[in-house]
Amino acid sequence: MSDFDREVIERIDAMARNESLKNDALQFIRSSNSPRYSYNFAWMSRPIIQYPQDIVAMQELIWRIRPDLIIEAGIAHGGSLIFNASMLALLDMSDAIESGVSLDPARSHRKVLGIDIDIRAHNRDAIERHPMASRIQMIQGSSVAPEVIAEVKSIAAEYETVLVILDSNHTHDHVRAELEAYAPLATVGSYCVVFDTVIEDLPAEENSDRHWGPGDNPKTAVWDYLKTHGEFEIDKSIHNKLLITVAPDGYLKRVR
Ligand SMILES: C[S@@+](CC[C@H](N)C(=O)[O-])C[C@H]1O[C@@H](n2cnc3c(N)ncnc32)[C@H](O)[C@@H]1O
Repeated sequence: MSDFDREVIERIDAMARNESLKNDALQFIRSSNSPRYSYNFAWMSRPIIQYPQDIVAMQELIWRIRPDLIIEAGIAHGGSLIFNASMLALLDMSDAIESGVSLDPARSHRKVLGIDIDIRAHNRDAIERHPMASRIQMIQGSSVAPEVIAEVKSIAAEYETVLVILDSNHTHDHVRAELEAYAPLATVGSYCVVFDTVIEDLPAEENSDRHWGPGDNPKTAVWDYLKTHGEFEIDKSIHNKLLITVAPDGYLKRVR
């Protein structure tokens, strides 16, 4: 580890103890939620419903883990599928540079598998016509429907290094069921990333028009899942470094 890497770790540890900075970050999350800040961004021209900090964290994770399959529940406009596919394209490119063998994108083994209960026609069309489309497969259906889970499992069986992202319906019961179905597909050393755990930390009125809120959200599902699944640990170094994130306690590392 270089001196620079050591300094980064020490700085993040210090930030984790800096209550004033952590509180300022939480205040930003709270006051940017109702103006719908997370809807401001796009990845390669497709809207991505994320905070930029989490996009950077996902970039770091994907580059480090080098998955050949990324499973994501929750497609919406497709920005996160395109982002994940673009990261897989960069992994292919770096493999090609290292091996000296160029790769035809259409023949890449790496894939993003997106699941959504409602893939709107205009979104599907834009995703299918996107330059990143060759690495994307979409399944329409509820992420907790037995036939969808079975299809995802049979696809995942063909891959070696799998990263899972849960970003669909944010109720406790739904995410708890998704964790049961999909977290085991994350391979050892990889992650199951659960977005919108921050709902637990927002005032109830922020989500009064939704089925979720404090006490009933992805974070409560994560906490419950971890009681009986010691093979996963919360990687606190990620939310400690981001400070501004919709996934506090949501970056779950599979440790065995
Ligand atoms: C927050 S958006 C996803 C955002 C996307 N991951 C991104 O970063 O741009 C949530 C999506 O979950 C989908 N959804 C809701 N309930 C679902 C379910 N039961 N199964 C699968 N998808 C669901 C919605 O249709 C919506 O498109």
